[in-house]
Amino acid sequence: MNFTRVQAHRGASGYAPENTMAAFKKAVDMKADGIELDVHLSKDGHLIVMHDETLNRTSNGKGLIASYTLEELKTLDAGSWFGKEFKGEKIPTLNEVLEFICKTELFINVEIKAGYRIYPNIEEKVLACLQKYNMLDRCIISSFDHYSLFRVKELNSNVKTGLLYGASLYEPWEYAKSVKVNALHPLYLTLDKHFIEGAYAHNLDINTYTVNDEKVMGELAAARISGIITNYPDKAKKIVSEI
Ligand code: G3P
Ligand code: CA
Repeated sequence: MNFTRVQAHRGASGYAPENTMAAFKKAVDMKADGIELDVHLSKDGHLIVMHDETLNRTSNGKGLIASYTLEELKTLDAGSWFGKEFKGEKIPTLNEVLEFICKTELFINVEIKAGYRIYPNIEEKVLACLQKYNMLDRCIISSFDHYSLFRVKELNSNVKTGLLYGASLYEPWEYAKSVKVNALHPLYLTLDKHFIEGAYAHNLDINTYTVNDEKVMGELAAARISGIITNYPDKAKKIVSEI
């Protein structure tokens, strides 16, 4: 097995509308090791898979996801913006994605877009959903909201968590320990050899985002990075297999 695991970012979002079943099915077809997706809560408390907090960019709806019930969100088209062949693609729930993924070998990276202070009990809901599909040991929960990651560990210390961040952090090992995360999820531009060695010396995996350039994929795979999060899982899998 290759060292570096490839995560399809919002599904195989280079080829199908992000965060839709079409994109997750393509990720499976392309033999990604895992999928990454983003979750929010609807007005009636369902876990909704979409990147932005508003509907405007990736559906024909308008306004905040949190202003609509699941039934209302299900009337929207989340595919046409990407291409007419995807017309009628629905906004999935986390339940629906897990129902599909649990029957495959892939793992899932659930990014909580906003934690409990904005979406009440979202951490409990994500964990319950993963448990329902027996995916608690085949997941990682990531977030830019580090309070949310700490909450996940309070609820279930066995579940893996990944610390998302954009700007470079100076030797974040002690901080990572205080949030109790298992992995660092940095922007790939912040990585260098010193950082990679430091993370591994502190028993932290590194899953880096969003790597769409093949030259960079090759460099990271050669540096034995734990995970590459990409819109093009087919390209990354090929490069990783050649290392
Ligand atoms: O998981 C990495 C990546 O998804 C974080 O950024 O904005 O694409 O959710 P974003
Ligand atoms: Ca994400």
